[in-house]
Amino acid sequence: MNTSPINNQFANRIANSDPSGLADLFMASSDPKNISFAGGYPDTSLFPETDLATSFSQAIANQHQAIFQYTDAKGPLKLREQLITRHNFNNNGQFDPANILVTQGGQQAIDLISRLFLNTQTGLALEAPTYMGAIAAFQAYEPTFYEIPMEEDGLNLTIFENELKKSQATSQKIKLLYTIPDFQNPTGITMSTPKRQRLAQLAKEYNFYIIEDSPYRELRYHGEPQPTIQSFDTDDRVLFVSSFSKILSPGLRIGYVVGSSKLITQLAGLKAAVDVQSPTLTLEALSYYLEHFNLDAHINQLKVRYQAKLAAMLTALTIHMPSNLKFTKPSGGFFIWLEHQDAFDMNDFMQQICLPQAHIVFVPSNGQYPVSNVTNGARLNFSNVSILQIQLGIEKLAHLLTTEN
Ligand SMILES: Cc1ncc(COP(=O)(O)O)c(C=O)c1O
Repeated sequence: MNTSPINNQFANRIANSDPSGLADLFMASSDPKNISFAGGYPDTSLFPETDLATSFSQAIANQHQAIFQYTDAKGPLKLREQLITRHNFNNNGQFDPANILVTQGGQQAIDLISRLFLNTQTGLALEAPTYMGAIAAFQAYEPTFYEIPMEEDGLNLTIFENELKKSQATSQKIKLLYTIPDFQNPTGITMSTPKRQRLAQLAKEYNFYIIEDSPYRELRYHGEPQPTIQSFDTDDRVLFVSSFSKILSPGLRIGYVVGSSKLITQLAGLKAAVDVQSPTLTLEALSYYLEHFNLDAHINQLKVRYQAKLAAMLTALTIHMPSNLKFTKPSGGFFIWLEHQDAFDMNDFMQQICLPQAHIVFVPSNGQYPVSNVTNGARLNFSNVSILQIQLGIEKLAHLLTTEN
């Protein structure tokens, strides 16, 4: 009999969330003697330090003691107005401040939505592979995972619809879909417009909700943006999640979720129970930044730099990778997905050969699927490495993979 006072559900979460020693991998990733393609960090040199410093000091100077007080759990009204105006402008939305909850990064939004929808009797569909942080958040609620494979234009809808049909007859009906439609983490794939439209219809038809998680959406380096899934939603079934982590600074810990006012009120209640509110000071500093500085101009600068890094990585992969390794060609975001066409264990390769011999780190595929143990893929990050490191690192990586074949 288990007499431990620790709640097993959460103990399992910790046990399951690091299936392949990823914590060690991220340690190796911050060691300066290694070239790290592992993290999902923005380029540290691109944070607008002076403008953010001014925003913090001016926000305090303008508001005096009031800035150190509690604020609304949803976030200060003015900030919500600014965020929803920006969201509506970028995505042809028609939302107002009652439709937005400001969270501690997109990660908290994912966790709060999981609290609202998931338990051991629910089915959760997600892209396979997907963002590891979301898998870790979902695992705490022990849903049944339905892994939906990716195609070049986003998740495979034929398989998804089949799973939806099958799940209707079970006690683990699919209640929630988690998707990253723009420059997906980890594959870099973007979902086509018809698929977005169809997903919104399916949600209504099969009575499920959608987390549209899109922190990389504004980091498009070429081509035209696709409409959001939310823009096709006529039934309040989409919760759109985004964040300032990739376009401004992850240290601010500011994300948000946009959805029906009913769901947002429920999520705000859950947030209040978790952490009362996000820090007033940081929220007010962001509000000041949005009013007095030009975020879009800053994002344009980021795009120029990241586009060059993405191009350098694609060129290096094209020149050096052996033909039995395929890779995606994203139009934005932070990641490229590399896939061995034969049976291959990327985790073993990285831990035993790549890291010790070449000092190169990446994220092997196995931790990026909640259920299946797919070993032949790798996520390569290009945002927080220099172009020189990209050229050197990819050439070395390709050389080792050629030798290992
Ligand atoms: C797809 C995706 N969603 C959410 C997050 C969470 O980011 P944050 O909590 O910093 O906003 C990340 C971070 O890497 C991500 O890649």
